[in-house]
Amino acid sequence: MAPEQTTAVLEAEGLTKHFPVRGAGRDVLRRGAAVHAVDDVALSLHRGRVTALVGESGSGKSTVARLLAQLQTRTGGAVRLHGKDVTVHGGRRFRAYCRSVQLIFQDPFASLNPVHTVRYHLTRALRVHGHAGRTARELEEALTDLLGRVRLTPAEQYLAKFPHELSGGQRQRVAIARALAARPEVLLADEPVSMLDVSIRLGVLNLLRDLKEQLSLAVLYITHDIASARYFADETLVMYAGRLVEGGESETVTQSPAHPYTRLLIDSAPDPERIGSAQRAELDEDDLGEPPSLVTPPAGCRFHPRCPHAMERCTTELPPRFEVSGKQWAACWLYDNGSPAPAGES
Ligand SMILES: Nc1ncnc2c1ncn2[C@@H]1O[C@H](COP(=O)(O)OP(=O)(O)OP(=O)(O)O)[C@@H](O)[C@H]1O
Ligand code: SF4
Ligand SMILES: [Mg+2]
Repeated sequence: MAPEQTTAVLEAEGLTKHFPVRGAGRDVLRRGAAVHAVDDVALSLHRGRVTALVGESGSGKSTVARLLAQLQTRTGGAVRLHGKDVTVHGGRRFRAYCRSVQLIFQDPFASLNPVHTVRYHLTRALRVHGHAGRTARELEEALTDLLGRVRLTPAEQYLAKFPHELSGGQRQRVAIARALAARPEVLLADEPVSMLDVSIRLGVLNLLRDLKEQLSLAVLYITHDIASARYFADETLVMYAGRLVEGGESETVTQSPAHPYTRLLIDSAPDPERIGSAQRAELDEDDLGEPPSLVTPPAGCRFHPRCPHAMERCTTELPPRFEVSGKQWAACWLYDNGSPAPAGES
């Protein structure tokens, strides 16, 4: 591993977000209630590495990304950039933070302004981050370089185009180029390919992987699709109902999942071969049963109402992270030394 990969660029510890539930009128019962969207999440992103954050809808993935991007205030925990605690609420310090940490959204059409051209979007981003150069020629070079990085060439074919004149994949490439205009160290990619036609998803994922290598970026790749995590990410974290339940090297987590929820995710996910095919690449959430209420999440292990291995203690005691192997951990009592693992499983 290169030395730069060993130190974390961006870290979260104890990251927590509870959204207050506003009870209407005389709904006093809901007073003080909150959606426990993210609880006690710890993760670290390293240069030159992709970390996948996988989980079903509503598990808190986007909230984690927004907290890391400082777009929402956290209820608790810390976000550290190069080891320094950072909390910013807009203004100059927020812009400085964005220079290092950029967020790419799921829907490139919504994230680009329909009345502005590609040239406008990229020029503005370059100017905001102080990378537009001092002359018109330097600006042109910076624009050509950005579009070249996302493989939209020749640049002059794209600069005058409006978002609606581009394909979905091209729009997402422009959104990526705009993020790169900041020369970030961290890219938070929130389902960057899920709205794209399946036939072009692989091309955009390959682009992100090449950029990670060329620019030594730390990438958080948020997805429903555990098959693509295996293909694309070095490390995979699995999130369930606001908590991380398993993590480790992608190959190990996806080939030998330890946590019963990860196993369920993999059993319900389509074959990895299908990433680039016309079949649906996300997991089939109908196969997963019902996720719990996040206003009154289950006590103990949040997965216990759906877990085929649930034991008495699972209903009351929150499992900590247990080391499963040097390459994997799971927050599950099955891996406590005091409890036997289920027959036939690791
Ligand atoms: N601003 C908000 N106010 C109240 N609740 C919110 C808010 N944002 C998110 N939530 C709730 O927090 C939980 C987690 O939402 P989040 O969008 O992070 O999930 P997700 O894993 O990204 O889901 P998806 O895969 O559907 O994008 C959900 O129950 C959601 O309804
Ligand atoms: S802690 Fe218990 S309920 Fe939770 S996943 Fe493990 S066995 Fe299942
Ligand atoms: Mg989301």
